[in-house]
Amino acid sequence: MEKTIPGEKFDLGVCYYPEQWPEAMWADDYRRMREIGFTIVRMGEFAWNFFEPEEGVFTFDLFDRAIDLAHEHGLQVILGTPTATPPAWMTYKYPEILNATFEGVQYQHGLRRHYNYSSPIYRDYCAKITEAMATHYANHPGVVGWQIDNELNCEVNVFYAEADHKAFRTWVQEKYGSLDALNQAWGTVFWNQSYSDWEQVHLPRPAPTKSANPHQALDEKRFISDNTISFARLQSDILRQLAPAQWITTNGMFGHLDSHALTDELLDFFSYDSYPNFTTIWNDADRRDPLMDRSYSNQLTKIRSISPTFCVMEQQSGPGGWVNTMGQSAPKPGQMRLWTYQSVAHGADMLLYFRWRTATFGTEIYWHGINDYHNRPNRRVAEATTISRELGKIGELIAGSRFTAEVAILHDYDNEWDGEFDIWHGPLTKESEYSWGKALQFSHIPYNYLYVQEKTTLGDLSRYKVLIYPHPAIMSEETAELLKQYVAGGGKLIFGARSGYKDQRGHCRMTPFPGLVAELCGITMEDFTLVLNEATTPHMRWIDGGDEASTPARLFNDILHPENDNVQTLALFDGDYYAGKPALTRNPYGSGEAYYFGAAFSREIADGLIRRLGLAPATTGWAELPPEVEVAIRVKQDRRFAFILNYTGKPVKANLLQELEDLLEGEQVSVGELEIAPYGVKVFAL
Ligand code: GAL
Repeated sequence: MEKTIPGEKFDLGVCYYPEQWPEAMWADDYRRMREIGFTIVRMGEFAWNFFEPEEGVFTFDLFDRAIDLAHEHGLQVILGTPTATPPAWMTYKYPEILNATFEGVQYQHGLRRHYNYSSPIYRDYCAKITEAMATHYANHPGVVGWQIDNELNCEVNVFYAEADHKAFRTWVQEKYGSLDALNQAWGTVFWNQSYSDWEQVHLPRPAPTKSANPHQALDEKRFISDNTISFARLQSDILRQLAPAQWITTNGMFGHLDSHALTDELLDFFSYDSYPNFTTIWNDADRRDPLMDRSYSNQLTKIRSISPTFCVMEQQSGPGGWVNTMGQSAPKPGQMRLWTYQSVAHGADMLLYFRWRTATFGTEIYWHGINDYHNRPNRRVAEATTISRELGKIGELIAGSRFTAEVAILHDYDNEWDGEFDIWHGPLTKESEYSWGKALQFSHIPYNYLYVQEKTTLGDLSRYKVLIYPHPAIMSEETAELLKQYVAGGGKLIFGARSGYKDQRGHCRMTPFPGLVAELCGITMEDFTLVLNEATTPHMRWIDGGDEASTPARLFNDILHPENDNVQTLALFDGDYYAGKPALTRNPYGSGEAYYFGAAFSREIADGLIRRLGLAPATTGWAELPPEVEVAIRVKQDRRFAFILNYTGKPVKANLLQELEDLLEGEQVSVGELEIAPYGVKVFAL
């Protein structure tokens, strides 16, 4: 079942913390929210002490009043379960609920997310608070849905409390059944690691070098993901049972969590927290033409693979920063609107700003919301009002429509998690996904992510003309078979270096690289090497390239050997001891083609492939756009909506080839030059 926002309507709103403000302010806050046009607020997610001030004593007075008043003002309420912030009385009494570092040092009260998911005592407390809240608010007409916890696996996504080691032991026991099977899977014969008693089995622990058994390290991530889901399930089961009329979601996409399985199994739809200004501090300065805030489109693309329409539970509205870290520059006038439409263009049908007013105390005194401390009108309130008016006009029209794309990047959790540890393939995937995302973005070719899962079918793949699976080191027989069927049926599939050589335990296969996809690609690897020195990295040169510049074949080189006459070599290495050998090949297979590139993809190489594959911009026939803008198209029945987003602070010029209806301005725009304002947005009906 697809996990989408229920109903075809658009809700715009804001995160609100009634417990942080004098009650006398609430009515005016709500009145002004409505004045802006907000219809929804989220609250409660850090307020455990107000719901259970002491063990077993549940009180709802403050939130009853806050929720009633919101409802009276016509605001719907999303309630967060407060389990991201266990109270001091609890952690003091039961320190075993706290998380610990890899070295075993216990975290303490004082920030948030300091707990572990494994402690039966904590799980019990979480069940009780969820039960009490669900019972109390199940039939409240103002409460429409629930957010479980807050940002599962944010801030810390590894867990080393005693309870975690124990839970991991149970998990491996269930997975492997016997110590023999565990020893086999983890290859413990290597360096005499074999276990002879389950009690000897732990999560990775400190050792003489900063390494660990790689198979154990992969299982650790799988365990964390399963454990997080089982922690959330405890709450979703209670909510489903006690509050069946209200929907359930959770927010944020973080490491070591299969957010697809989490959503499929527990949620009605997924929610994301979008803070594009993180790129003003995290941008990798050495990248040319960086994507900056536009890279959040790639994030939103991943979210859309979980929920075709989703909620942005926290959309950045002001400058971000904790007191001592994450300081960011202020969003420029227009950027809040731009980022809102970035989310909407990618599938958000519900969006809440973080937050109504900047906190005057605590870690986030510099994490600015729509209102400043002084509460007087400012440019962010004005911008929110404009956005709200616009979405009031077009929200219902576009709600429920689906993003459309002919290209997808394949991704999977096993390789993500294994690649975090394995430096022979993980860094390649990061580089290649970034490069492909960028090349497709700048070419105005919308793309999706497709997460390869056990339930993935040929039908899921066949929706796309072209699939890019950059570096699937781990591959199951089933996945290899599915990929073969996709290509045989006419699909075009592109692999990068290090594909297909590991099994699901992370063991290397004793067949020539690229293992399970060697036959599909019609090649084997003659030789291979890590490429460590940027300055001496060999280039790849297109055979049909004419003047096309040769480009570095980065990070890893697989030197390819065509295994049959049908395999066409498209590019050669032009450096090192393998100069003149094939770097990129194409193998006709059934009605389709399999490509193999023996390195990590750069933007230039992705561009070269886009040209040779004949992929056309989504604007073909109706517009010509400069590279500074992104285009996204959402479709509902026979209606198509095109979003055009200018990420620069300068006006840019587009060329319309057709007369189009500008939905935000409510007017027809004629053929010819069209200026898009700095940080400007256009929504056209096609
Ligand atoms: C999010 C979190 C919010 C707030 C915000 C700004 O990650 O969910 O509670 O902390 O970041 O830091």
